[in-house]
Amino acid sequence: MLEGELYSLGVSTTTKTEGGIGFSVPWSTMYWINLKSHIASRVLWEVGQSAYKTEHDVYKAAYALAWPDWFTPAQTIKVKVSARRCSLPSLDFLTLRIKDAVCDKFVAATQLRPSVDTERPNIKLDAFLDQSTVTFYVDTSGEPLFKRGHRMGSAEAPLKENLAAGILRLAGWTANDVLLDPMCGGGTIPLEAAMMARQIPPGISRNFAFERLLVHDAQRWGHLRESARAEQVAQAPAAIYASDLNPAMVKIAQRTFQGAGVAINIQLKQSNILDLEAPAAKGVMVINPPYGVRLSRSDELESFYPKLGDWLKQRFAGWRAYVLTGDARTPKLIGLTPSKRTPLFNGALECRLYEFVIVQGGARRRLTPSTQS
Ligand SMILES: C[S@@+](CC[C@H](N)C(=O)[O-])C[C@H]1O[C@@H](n2cnc3c(N)ncnc32)[C@H](O)[C@@H]1O
Repeated sequence: MLEGELYSLGVSTTTKTEGGIGFSVPWSTMYWINLKSHIASRVLWEVGQSAYKTEHDVYKAAYALAWPDWFTPAQTIKVKVSARRCSLPSLDFLTLRIKDAVCDKFVAATQLRPSVDTERPNIKLDAFLDQSTVTFYVDTSGEPLFKRGHRMGSAEAPLKENLAAGILRLAGWTANDVLLDPMCGGGTIPLEAAMMARQIPPGISRNFAFERLLVHDAQRWGHLRESARAEQVAQAPAAIYASDLNPAMVKIAQRTFQGAGVAINIQLKQSNILDLEAPAAKGVMVINPPYGVRLSRSDELESFYPKLGDWLKQRFAGWRAYVLTGDARTPKLIGLTPSKRTPLFNGALECRLYEFVIVQGGARRRLTPSTQS
């Protein structure tokens, strides 16, 4: 999903890395991706790579980099080290050595050393080690990109914004499709959809770490932001519906939609999912129900899912429904055969996104005692 999005944002060649995508672009495309990616968590600028055998090799490689060209000793830093198949015993010690190398470099160049702030650093530095190579990065995003700066209040078990956007893409939803999220909680899914439909860049309301770098081109950034604002459209091409049983969640979603400027594009109400009628002859529904591990008791879910299956079948023929759940019994309990299942991680929870194509009287599998084992 991310790779496809990057191509649409001006990247021409990519390489897949562990948990990410590597690419080479002009600085302004990096601004554009930070501003407009719905799916990325962060954009890291690779500033150096070196072979290593010992901790001292890592120190020397970090010391060799031109840190004082990129930020000042008045800015606070945080170093994060991750590794895969690295034979050195302590990542904590490596973190310390890299921090020392950066600070020693500043002292040599300016007689001043940056302070460490592990909570809210101005500049985040990343290092990744495999068996033989260490790679250094400066984080250009700062706060992770899924923090759009729109959340109001704390919803129960909210999805990360970039997971919600990825689910919409996996569902094949486009701005021309009617969308319904009948268990919307804090409204993450409809909010992402409305921003996509109105071409509002997800990062338009927030700041980025690249703005704090010495190599930042404020004028270019200003132009890019303005051109992205100018692409926005006032209306979403198709209706977006959201509802939740819990009035407190509906209130949080309402305030979030208002804060993001998309309240007029989302028809929001309080309702039990099972009382809803289909608002259109066809559309895409995304459901992120509470599930045993996180929210409700699992026996409640066992009695709820068969009702959900009947509701889909009786009222939503013509729709595609996508259910995100960590409960592997879901298709059986719903009594519908999924046409697709995509593994996804919701935080640390391994989930599946099940696709159900709802047709009148079809694709139905009633539970019988013999199929329940
Ligand atoms: C996992 S949360 C959804 C989180 C949401 N996707 C977000 O990102 O904020 C599940 C939601 O289902 C709602 N819910 C539970 N039972 C419901 C029902 N019968 N009808 C409608 N909503 C219900 C809960 O109030 C809760 O907000």
